[in-house]
Amino acid sequence: MVLYFSATGNTEYIAQEIARRLEDDCLNLLDRVRQNDHSELHSDKPFVICAPVYVCEMPRFLSKYLREQQFSGSRDVYFIFTSGGYCGISGPLAKSMFRKKGMNYLGHAEFKMPRNYVISDSYPMLSPEEVTERIHEARRMLDPVADDIRAGRRLKARHVYFFEKVITVPFNPIWCRYKMPARDFYTTEACVGCGKCARLCPLNNITMKDKKPVWGDRCTHCMACIGNCPTRGIEYGTITLSKQPYRFGQYRRVAEEPLD
Ligand SMILES: Cc1cc2nc3c(=O)[nH]c(=O)nc-3n(C[C@H](O)[C@H](O)[C@H](O)COP(=O)(O)O)c2cc1C
Ligand code: SF4
Ligand code: SF4
Repeated sequence: MVLYFSATGNTEYIAQEIARRLEDDCLNLLDRVRQNDHSELHSDKPFVICAPVYVCEMPRFLSKYLREQQFSGSRDVYFIFTSGGYCGISGPLAKSMFRKKGMNYLGHAEFKMPRNYVISDSYPMLSPEEVTERIHEARRMLDPVADDIRAGRRLKARHVYFFEKVITVPFNPIWCRYKMPARDFYTTEACVGCGKCARLCPLNNITMKDKKPVWGDRCTHCMACIGNCPTRGIEYGTITLSKQPYRFGQYRRVAEEPLD
């Protein structure tokens, strides 16, 4: 069973493509996360868990969810991470979490995908040409990764150095706590009150009042709200006035065109 969380579609694409190759079920964890639903997940095939990387780790809300989740049937688990290029300590943390659960961690794969963090002023967004190139590169990795999983082989990723763990473990929670406020989100006249942003927030951080979204204080900057608004009705301070939010769906044709 392939399980995934995806805010802006990169991970969803990879998860669905892997599931299709494995002829396995593919389950979006969003509703379960939002409802804190930990009812047992059963699979006779290995579990393949797909997640984006936030600040060098799997999103904290997702690792909390998975820690409490019960898995039955197969004891084998693979991870697939999508990132803008640096997965940090995501793999070692997943390994340690699932070993504590008594499961057989069979490694992880890293897919370098387009950046989606449009409200960050630390990194520029990629050009359409760079996005296209990344999606093509990721597509070339799908068959080998699926072949390894189908054959029960261990996935091999880059070695993670001890210093990366030393830096990330204390850095991540501090960054997330102080650098991820939702207070700068606001809607423009383009908002039509459809409520999609509220339905997509994994932390239930958006409520609709008078047909307009109102942001609370539990944000993890996943970009689901701003990235998926159908009318481009959300801005974040002045940062997004000159930047286009990202979602994979804008590049669906790139995922379907023939590869060289
Ligand atoms: C809050 C946040 C933090 C991120 N941190 C990292 C990071 O540490 N390293 C990295 O390479 N990419 C980082 N990214 C980029 C995403 O991991 C990447 O674009 C991912 O494929 C998005 O997946 P999704 O479209 O399935 O949501 C970050 C994105 C967000 C929104
Ligand atoms: S998704 Fe966009 S249009 Fe719909 S309620 Fe949210 S901000 Fe408004
Ligand atoms: S409010 Fe924050 S956590 Fe919720 S969808 Fe928007 S960016 Fe993601």
